[in-house]
Amino acid sequence: KKDRKDDWLGIPLADMPNLLKRPLELPPLRPASSHLITVQIHGIGGSGPPLPYPAKFRDWWDDKHVMLPCSSRARLLNHQPLWPTITSALHQPILSSYDLEEIILSYRPDLKSKGPFVSLHYFFKQEVEKGRLSWLQSVLRATAELALRLPKICTQPLPLLSPDIHASLSISQLQASCLLSNALFCTFPRSAQNVTPTFNFTGLFLPPAVGRKVEKLRAFFHYFYRVTTSPPSGMITFTRKVLSTAPTWESLTDILPDLYISCQGRIEDDGLGLLQVDFANRHVGGGVLGGGLLQEEIRFTVCPELLIARLVTPSLRPHETLLVTGVERFSKYSGYGEAFCWDGDWMDSTPRDSWGRRLTQVVAMDATCFSKLKSQVTGSSLRRELNKALCGFTVELWEMGRAPGIATGNWGCGAFGGDPFLKALLQLMAAGATRRPVAYFTFGDRRMMKKIFHIHYALRERQLSIGDLFQLLLRFQDQVVKPDCTMTLAQLPEWLLKQIGVCAGD
Ligand code: AR6
Repeated sequence: KKDRKDDWLGIPLADMPNLLKRPLELPPLRPASSHLITVQIHGIGGSGPPLPYPAKFRDWWDDKHVMLPCSSRARLLNHQPLWPTITSALHQPILSSYDLEEIILSYRPDLKSKGPFVSLHYFFKQEVEKGRLSWLQSVLRATAELALRLPKICTQPLPLLSPDIHASLSISQLQASCLLSNALFCTFPRSAQNVTPTFNFTGLFLPPAVGRKVEKLRAFFHYFYRVTTSPPSGMITFTRKVLSTAPTWESLTDILPDLYISCQGRIEDDGLGLLQVDFANRHVGGGVLGGGLLQEEIRFTVCPELLIARLVTPSLRPHETLLVTGVERFSKYSGYGEAFCWDGDWMDSTPRDSWGRRLTQVVAMDATCFSKLKSQVTGSSLRRELNKALCGFTVELWEMGRAPGIATGNWGCGAFGGDPFLKALLQLMAAGATRRPVAYFTFGDRRMMKKIFHIHYALRERQLSIGDLFQLLLRFQDQVVKPDCTMTLAQLPEWLLKQIGVCAGD
C-alpha cells in the first residue's frame, strides 16, 4: 500500500540512507570507562549467545548499579536474603495463574494489599478457554528456569546510565531475556534510590485497565516462549545521549533536510534501517507495565528487550535521550490504544552489525506535555523541543555523513498535546542541523501530509535557513501573545507562507 503514489510526497523512501543498504563500519568493540560490555567480546557473532563477563558471578553492589535479585545485599522485608527464597519458590509447580500469584506473594508479601492479580487471571482464563493451558504451563516452567540462571547469565550488576553522563551499556539478548524473566516473576528489589521506572511486571497483573493489560501479557508470554525455546544470540546497546552544548538556533545556516512524507505506514514497519523515534516518556517505556498503550508502550510490547532501558535509565532530562541499538521484534499487532491486539508471531530478519546487534536503532525522546497550545511557541519551549530532538538525532564524529535517515511522525502530539505541524517543523529543523533526511509518517492524516510537504517545499525552494525559520517562529510567538491577537497556532502554516511570500494556494 505504501507504493500508492498519492499516499506519499517528497523523495522516495528507497533513496534515503539506510543501515540495511549501507551498514556503518564500526570501530572494533572494546570496553571503555563510558561503555560497559557484560559479555566476553570474542564470543560475539558466534552461533550461540556470547558467554558472560566476568565468567563467575561477582557479588557486589553500589548505588550507581542495579541491584540484582541474586545479590546477597537483596533482602526480604524481614531482612532474610532474597535469592534463596526466590529459588525455592520458583521450583514449586506453577500450574495456574493462582499458583503464580501465590509464588510471587511468597517473596513480595507487600503486594497483598494492592489487590488480586486480576489481569493475570483474566489472561489465563482466556488462554485456557482456547485450550492453551499446557502451553502456558510449559512457558512458565521454562521462564522460571531461565530466571533462576540469573547469577550464571548476568555475572555483574548493571551500571545505571546516570543523568548528565554520555555512556553506553552492551548486554547480550540472552542476558536481556534472563533479566526480563526475573521481571515477570517480580523478583527485582525496588532500587534503594528509586531513580529508575518500575521493571517488575507487577503493574500488569494488578487492577485496573484489565483488558489492555491482557493483550500486552499475550505479547510478553509469546516473547518468553520464543526466547526459552530458541535463545537469541545477539547483542543490544543502550546509550544515554547528552547534548553538551545547545546551538544558537537563530544563527544556524543549514537548510531543512530531504523529506519523505507519507500518510500510510508506521515507524516500526516502514522505517526499517532508519533511526526510529520512540515518542517517549521521560521515564522510558511510560505506562508499558501498567495500562498505557500508545506509540511507546506498543513499541516496547512488540520489542520487549526495550524494557531493559527501564532498569538502567533514570528519568531523562531536557537535554538527554536514550538510543537503543539491536533490539529484535517478536510480535505483530493491530489497532492502537484501546483497540490494540496482539496479532501473532513476528520473525525479525534484520541483519546484524559487527557488534552482533540487529541493525535497528530506536531513540527514546520525550516531548514536553503541553496543556495550552500557545505555550508551545514560546522561545524556551521551542528551544527545549529542538534541543531534545537534536540530542536524539546527533551522531558521533565518525558517523557523520554516514548515518541513516530518521523515521518519525507526530512526536509529542497525542497524549502530550503538541501541535503536529509545529512539531514536524521542529523535528525537520533538528534533523537539518545534523544533515539527516527525514521519513515522516502522519499516521493516516493526509491533510497534514500535504501541509507539511507544502511548507517544506516552499522553505527549501527559498533556501530559508534553519536560523531564519527559528526567528520567524519567534516573531509568530510575539504576535500571538498580544492580547488583541485573534490568531491561533492553527494559523501558523498560512502565516509562515505569507512571511516567505507564498500565496496559500501556490
Ligand atoms: N508510527 C507512526 N506514528 C505513530 C505510531 C506509529 N507506530 N503510533 C502512533 N503514532 P503518542 P506523545 C502517531 O501519543 O504525544 C506514551 O504514554 C499518532 O498520530 O504515543 O509523544 C509515552 O510513554 C499518535 O497520536 O506520543 C508518553 O508518556 C502520535 O503519533 C506519552 O505517551 C503521538 O503518539 C507520549 O505522548
